[in-house]
Amino acid sequence: MKEIKVGIIGFGTVGAGVAENLLNNGDVIAARAGVKPVLTRIADLDIVTDRGIKVPDGVLTTDAAVAIRECDIVVELVGGTTIAKKFILDALKAGKSVVTANKALLALHGEELFAAAEAAGADLFYEASVAGGIPIIKALREGLVSNRIERICGIMNGTCNYILTRMEREGADFQAVLADAQKLGYAEANPSLDIDGFDTAHKTAILAALAYGKWFGLDAVHVEGIRDLDLIDLRCADEIGYRIKLLASIKQKDGAVQMSVAPTLVPKDALLANISDVFNGVLVDGDTVGQTLFYGRGAGRRATASAVVADITDAAINLDRGCVRRIPAFRSAPLYDRVLSIGEISSRYYLRFEVMDQPGVVASIARVLADRGISLSSVVQREVKNGVNTTLILLTHEASEKAMRLALDEIATLSINRSPVKLMRIEDL
Ligand code: HSE
Repeated sequence: MKEIKVGIIGFGTVGAGVAENLLNNGDVIAARAGVKPVLTRIADLDIVTDRGIKVPDGVLTTDAAVAIRECDIVVELVGGTTIAKKFILDALKAGKSVVTANKALLALHGEELFAAAEAAGADLFYEASVAGGIPIIKALREGLVSNRIERICGIMNGTCNYILTRMEREGADFQAVLADAQKLGYAEANPSLDIDGFDTAHKTAILAALAYGKWFGLDAVHVEGIRDLDLIDLRCADEIGYRIKLLASIKQKDGAVQMSVAPTLVPKDALLANISDVFNGVLVDGDTVGQTLFYGRGAGRRATASAVVADITDAAINLDRGCVRRIPAFRSAPLYDRVLSIGEISSRYYLRFEVMDQPGVVASIARVLADRGISLSSVVQREVKNGVNTTLILLTHEASEKAMRLALDEIATLSINRSPVKLMRIEDL
């Protein structure tokens, strides 16, 4: 059986997982693929620290150029957006197939990297960049190829999902649960990437490019994180039949694309609402297939290695059969060009007011909303006993974000609010 040489650049957690999988399951992969990917080189500046696996003699090197020169497939697992980009471009220019898990790099420089792959006539695979071990890239690129993608909704950050799950179940404080997530190794080294929504935004940009054939760029994604989420909103949502998830949303409406990452209310009985702890879930709504849901571990050494090695196997099969770039990484032309800014979208909304308990307060809020054409679908006021303030929860029917913002600006002038109004969007699934 033909052997294909694999070089890994970056011997961190995922690099070690990939090496371990190739060493342990190489025979299983070869039996399925009819070609054997062989771990030939691992490049890292630190080749001394024990990663808990026995690497064959002669595999480790401190020189990434050696891995690029000697191998057929180069696996970039360095992370970051500078040197990793150089390694990928060097490998592509040398005509090597490349596999990467680097979502930040793709979100920022995807257009340039895929143009380089096309110019070199080389494969560039990226399954592990979105939702770890869930094969969502392959599903969108191949399994759902016959569909126009109407909507993708995803819980794609395990750290945030873990934090929200524990806050909801235990009434636990955000900072305490974040500290636990860091201890358990779920959070990125810089937790801001997770909790401020940027990790999910990187993945959103990649899925949007895959669905609609255009690198819209990170700036096109409206991003809100979970840092300022209050326990009271998780409780209020629960009381009215919803959960709050950090939800990525990619949709097309009348030929324009909208992309957002934000804490969002989803009905408790929706499958996506029941994806808990560190797990990820991605719902894809296709015009032909209807709804499909993908679930699994979005991070971690073994789950991510599973996706990386699947890409290595695809690259090895293509090299073996002489059909590199057999399946295009992206559409060759954009399906939709235009992006809707957040001010142009419409949605259902959750509004929480902390207001004075006085006659006419609810009526005055309802009047402003009605004047802007915003229709209420639910009104809940917690009963006031001995207090002077009350919590008022309003849910709306679909309304324009612009009208909503104008209405809230006007309500802020009414001198009835005890604290700023909390707004979140509702996604009916
Ligand atoms: N830190 C990410 C998460 C994993 O918590 O899901 C990699 O994107």
